[in-house]
Amino acid sequence: MTQVKATNIHWHEGDISRDERWKALGCQGATLWFTGLSGSGKSTIASALEQALVNEGVNAYRLDGDNVRHGLNKNLGFSADDRAENIRRIGEVAKLFTDAGVVTLTSFISPYRSDRDLCREMHESAGLKFYEVFVDTPLDVCEGRDPKGLYKKARAGEIKGFTGIDDPYEAPEKAELVIKNADMPLDECVRLCVDFLAQQGVIKKA
Ligand code: ADX
Repeated sequence: MTQVKATNIHWHEGDISRDERWKALGCQGATLWFTGLSGSGKSTIASALEQALVNEGVNAYRLDGDNVRHGLNKNLGFSADDRAENIRRIGEVAKLFTDAGVVTLTSFISPYRSDRDLCREMHESAGLKFYEVFVDTPLDVCEGRDPKGLYKKARAGEIKGFTGIDDPYEAPEKAELVIKNADMPLDECVRLCVDFLAQQGVIKKA
Protein backbone atom coordinates (compact mmCIF):
# COMPACT_ATOMS: atom_id res chain seq x y z
CA MET A 1 0.00 0.00 0.00
CA THR A 2 1.46 3.37 -1.01
CA GLN A 3 1.76 5.72 1.92
CA VAL A 4 0.06 9.11 1.76
CA LYS A 5 2.79 11.63 2.50
CA ALA A 6 0.83 14.86 2.35
CA THR A 7 -0.99 16.14 5.38
CA ASN A 8 -3.83 18.65 5.66
CA ILE A 9 -5.41 17.66 2.36
CA HIS A 10 -9.16 17.50 1.81
CA TRP A 11 -11.24 15.93 -0.94
CA HIS A 12 -13.15 18.56 -2.93
CA GLU A 13 -16.33 17.19 -4.50
CA GLY A 14 -17.11 18.78 -7.89
CA ASP A 15 -20.41 20.44 -8.79
CA ILE A 16 -21.27 17.94 -11.48
CA SER A 17 -21.69 14.23 -10.84
CA ARG A 18 -20.25 11.49 -13.01
CA ASP A 19 -23.73 10.52 -14.20
CA GLU A 20 -24.58 14.10 -15.12
CA ARG A 21 -21.30 14.44 -17.01
CA TRP A 22 -21.70 11.19 -18.93
CA LYS A 23 -25.34 11.98 -19.76
CA ALA A 24 -24.58 15.52 -20.91
CA LEU A 25 -21.64 14.40 -23.03
CA GLY A 26 -23.29 11.17 -24.26
CA CYS A 27 -20.35 9.04 -23.21
CA GLN A 28 -19.52 6.22 -20.83
CA GLY A 29 -16.11 5.39 -19.42
CA ALA A 30 -14.54 1.97 -18.93
CA THR A 31 -10.99 0.68 -18.64
CA LEU A 32 -9.80 -2.15 -20.84
CA TRP A 33 -6.58 -3.35 -19.24
CA PHE A 34 -4.40 -5.20 -21.76
CA THR A 35 -1.75 -7.42 -20.22
CA GLY A 36 0.72 -9.83 -21.80
CA LEU A 37 4.36 -10.35 -22.63
CA SER A 38 6.45 -7.85 -24.55
CA GLY A 39 5.73 -8.52 -28.24
CA SER A 40 2.41 -10.23 -27.47
CA GLY A 41 0.49 -7.69 -29.54
CA LYS A 42 -1.06 -5.60 -26.74
CA SER A 43 -0.13 -2.24 -28.23
CA THR A 44 -0.98 -3.26 -31.79
CA ILE A 45 -4.46 -4.41 -30.76
CA ALA A 46 -5.04 -1.43 -28.45
CA SER A 47 -3.99 0.98 -31.18
CA ALA A 48 -6.24 -0.58 -33.85
CA LEU A 49 -9.10 -0.76 -31.35
CA GLU A 50 -8.61 2.91 -30.43
CA GLN A 51 -8.86 3.84 -34.11
CA ALA A 52 -11.95 1.68 -34.67
CA LEU A 53 -13.72 3.14 -31.62
CA VAL A 54 -12.87 6.77 -32.40
CA ASN A 55 -14.07 6.27 -35.99
CA GLU A 56 -17.40 5.18 -34.50
CA GLY A 57 -17.56 8.36 -32.42
CA VAL A 58 -16.41 6.77 -29.15
CA ASN A 59 -13.94 8.83 -27.13
CA ALA A 60 -11.27 6.15 -26.68
CA TYR A 61 -7.72 6.84 -25.54
CA ARG A 62 -4.70 4.58 -25.25
CA LEU A 63 -2.10 4.62 -22.50
CA ASP A 64 0.93 2.66 -23.67
CA GLY A 65 3.82 1.31 -21.58
CA ASP A 66 6.70 2.45 -23.73
CA ASN A 67 5.09 5.88 -24.30
CA VAL A 68 4.19 6.58 -20.68
CA ARG A 69 7.74 5.66 -19.70
CA HIS A 70 8.90 8.61 -21.84
CA GLY A 71 6.94 11.07 -19.70
CA LEU A 72 4.87 10.51 -16.56
CA ASN A 73 6.90 7.44 -15.57
CA LYS A 74 10.31 8.38 -16.96
CA ASN A 75 11.82 8.03 -13.49
CA LEU A 76 10.89 4.34 -13.25
CA GLY A 77 12.84 1.25 -14.34
CA PHE A 78 12.00 -2.44 -14.33
CA SER A 79 12.65 -3.56 -10.74
CA ALA A 80 9.62 -5.15 -9.06
CA ASP A 81 9.05 -1.95 -7.06
CA ASP A 82 9.32 0.28 -10.10
CA ARG A 83 6.98 -1.91 -12.12
CA ALA A 84 4.50 -1.82 -9.23
CA GLU A 85 4.70 1.99 -9.13
CA ASN A 86 4.41 2.17 -12.93
CA ILE A 87 1.21 0.14 -12.81
CA ARG A 88 -0.19 1.94 -9.75
CA ARG A 89 0.20 5.33 -11.45
CA ILE A 90 -1.35 4.07 -14.67
CA GLY A 91 -4.20 2.53 -12.70
CA GLU A 92 -4.86 5.96 -11.16
CA VAL A 93 -4.59 7.76 -14.50
CA ALA A 94 -6.87 5.20 -16.18
CA LYS A 95 -9.36 5.66 -13.35
CA LEU A 96 -9.41 9.43 -13.94
CA PHE A 97 -9.83 9.06 -17.70
CA THR A 98 -12.58 6.51 -17.20
CA ASP A 99 -14.33 8.71 -14.65
CA ALA A 100 -14.20 11.49 -17.25
CA GLY A 101 -16.13 9.21 -19.64
CA VAL A 102 -13.31 7.92 -21.83
CA VAL A 103 -12.96 4.32 -22.99
CA THR A 104 -9.43 3.88 -21.71
CA LEU A 105 -7.14 1.27 -23.25
CA THR A 106 -4.01 0.52 -21.26
CA SER A 107 -1.24 -1.62 -22.71
CA PHE A 108 1.39 -2.52 -20.17
CA ILE A 109 3.05 -5.87 -19.55
CA SER A 110 1.82 -5.50 -15.95
CA PRO A 111 3.40 -8.84 -15.08
CA TYR A 112 2.38 -9.07 -11.43
CA ARG A 113 -1.12 -10.19 -10.50
CA SER A 114 -1.21 -8.14 -7.29
CA ASP A 115 -0.52 -4.91 -9.23
CA ARG A 116 -3.30 -5.62 -11.71
CA ASP A 117 -5.66 -6.56 -8.88
CA LEU A 118 -4.90 -3.24 -7.19
CA CYS A 119 -5.94 -1.39 -10.37
CA ARG A 120 -9.13 -3.44 -10.57
CA GLU A 121 -9.88 -2.62 -6.94
CA MET A 122 -9.24 1.13 -7.49
CA HIS A 123 -11.80 1.15 -10.30
CA GLU A 124 -14.42 -1.12 -8.79
CA SER A 125 -14.43 0.63 -5.44
CA ALA A 126 -15.13 3.86 -7.33
CA GLY A 127 -17.99 2.19 -9.24
CA LEU A 128 -16.02 2.14 -12.51
CA LYS A 129 -15.82 -0.69 -15.02
CA PHE A 130 -12.48 -2.47 -15.30
CA TYR A 131 -11.90 -5.36 -17.69
CA GLU A 132 -8.71 -7.35 -17.90
CA VAL A 133 -7.76 -8.43 -21.41
CA PHE A 134 -5.10 -11.13 -21.49
CA VAL A 135 -3.20 -11.10 -24.77
CA ASP A 136 -2.20 -14.71 -24.46
CA THR A 137 0.70 -15.09 -26.88
CA PRO A 138 3.22 -17.82 -26.02
CA LEU A 139 6.75 -16.74 -25.15
CA ASP A 140 8.27 -18.53 -28.15
CA VAL A 141 5.99 -16.58 -30.52
CA CYS A 142 6.81 -13.23 -28.82
CA GLU A 143 10.49 -14.10 -28.94
CA GLY A 144 10.24 -15.10 -32.59
CA ARG A 145 8.66 -11.71 -33.39
CA ASP A 146 11.11 -9.75 -31.22
CA PRO A 147 10.04 -6.43 -32.80
CA LYS A 148 12.49 -4.34 -30.75
CA GLY A 149 15.31 -6.92 -30.61
CA LEU A 150 14.99 -6.97 -26.81
CA TYR A 151 14.59 -10.74 -26.37
CA LYS A 152 17.83 -11.22 -28.25
CA LYS A 153 19.55 -8.77 -25.90
CA ALA A 154 17.97 -10.42 -22.85
CA ARG A 155 19.14 -13.88 -23.97
CA ALA A 156 22.62 -12.44 -24.47
CA GLY A 157 22.52 -11.09 -20.90
CA GLU A 158 22.63 -7.47 -22.11
CA ILE A 159 19.25 -6.73 -20.45
CA LYS A 160 18.69 -8.06 -16.96
CA GLY A 161 15.26 -8.82 -15.50
CA PHE A 162 13.44 -9.11 -18.80
CA THR A 163 9.87 -10.37 -18.47
CA GLY A 164 9.54 -13.98 -19.61
CA ILE A 165 13.31 -14.54 -19.65
CA ASP A 166 14.64 -13.83 -16.19
CA ASP A 167 11.68 -12.03 -14.65
CA PRO A 168 8.25 -13.58 -14.10
CA TYR A 169 4.96 -13.05 -15.91
CA GLU A 170 1.94 -14.04 -13.82
CA ALA A 171 -0.87 -14.84 -16.24
CA PRO A 172 -4.35 -13.59 -15.28
CA GLU A 173 -6.71 -16.07 -13.67
CA LYS A 174 -9.87 -14.03 -14.07
CA ALA A 175 -9.44 -12.04 -17.27
CA GLU A 176 -12.75 -10.98 -18.75
CA LEU A 177 -11.33 -11.47 -22.23
CA VAL A 178 -8.54 -13.72 -23.50
CA ILE A 179 -7.11 -13.06 -26.95
CA LYS A 180 -5.03 -15.82 -28.46
CA ASN A 181 -3.51 -13.49 -30.95
CA ALA A 182 -0.84 -15.84 -32.32
CA ASP A 183 -3.31 -17.32 -34.77
CA MET A 184 -5.89 -14.57 -35.03
CA PRO A 185 -5.79 -11.71 -37.57
CA LEU A 186 -5.71 -8.19 -36.10
CA ASP A 187 -9.19 -7.22 -37.33
CA GLU A 188 -10.65 -10.25 -35.54
CA CYS A 189 -8.90 -9.29 -32.30
CA VAL A 190 -10.40 -5.81 -32.65
CA ARG A 191 -13.84 -7.22 -33.45
CA LEU A 192 -13.65 -9.38 -30.30
CA CYS A 193 -12.98 -6.29 -28.14
CA VAL A 194 -15.67 -4.19 -29.85
CA ASP A 195 -18.25 -6.98 -29.40
CA PHE A 196 -17.22 -7.36 -25.78
CA LEU A 197 -17.64 -3.62 -25.07
CA ALA A 198 -21.06 -3.70 -26.75
CA GLN A 199 -22.07 -6.77 -24.70
CA GLN A 200 -21.06 -4.95 -21.52
CA GLY A 201 -23.18 -1.96 -22.54
CA VAL A 202 -20.15 0.37 -22.71
CA ILE A 203 -20.74 1.16 -26.38
CA LYS A 204 -23.82 0.78 -28.56
CA LYS A 205 -24.25 -2.46 -30.50
CA ALA A 206 -23.34 -2.00 -34.19
S1 ADX B 1 5.73 -3.16 -16.94
O1 ADX B 1 6.34 -4.46 -16.60
O2 ADX B 1 6.13 -2.12 -15.99
O3 ADX B 1 4.27 -3.26 -17.11
P1 ADX B 1 5.82 -1.71 -19.41
O4 ADX B 1 4.66 -2.26 -20.17
O5 ADX B 1 5.64 -0.39 -18.76
O6 ADX B 1 6.35 -2.81 -18.37
O7 ADX B 1 7.07 -1.58 -20.39
C1 ADX B 1 7.45 -2.69 -21.14
C2 ADX B 1 8.29 -2.30 -22.33
O8 ADX B 1 9.54 -1.82 -21.90
C3 ADX B 1 8.57 -3.52 -23.19
O9 ADX B 1 7.66 -3.65 -24.24
C4 ADX B 1 9.98 -3.25 -23.69
O10 ADX B 1 9.91 -2.50 -24.87
C5 ADX B 1 10.60 -2.38 -22.65
N1 ADX B 1 11.52 -3.04 -21.70
C6 ADX B 1 12.77 -2.60 -21.42
N2 ADX B 1 13.34 -3.35 -20.45
C7 ADX B 1 12.44 -4.30 -20.09
C8 ADX B 1 12.44 -5.37 -19.14
N3 ADX B 1 13.47 -5.58 -18.35
N4 ADX B 1 11.34 -6.16 -19.06
C9 ADX B 1 10.27 -5.91 -19.85
N5 ADX B 1 10.20 -4.93 -20.77
C10 ADX B 1 11.27 -4.11 -20.89
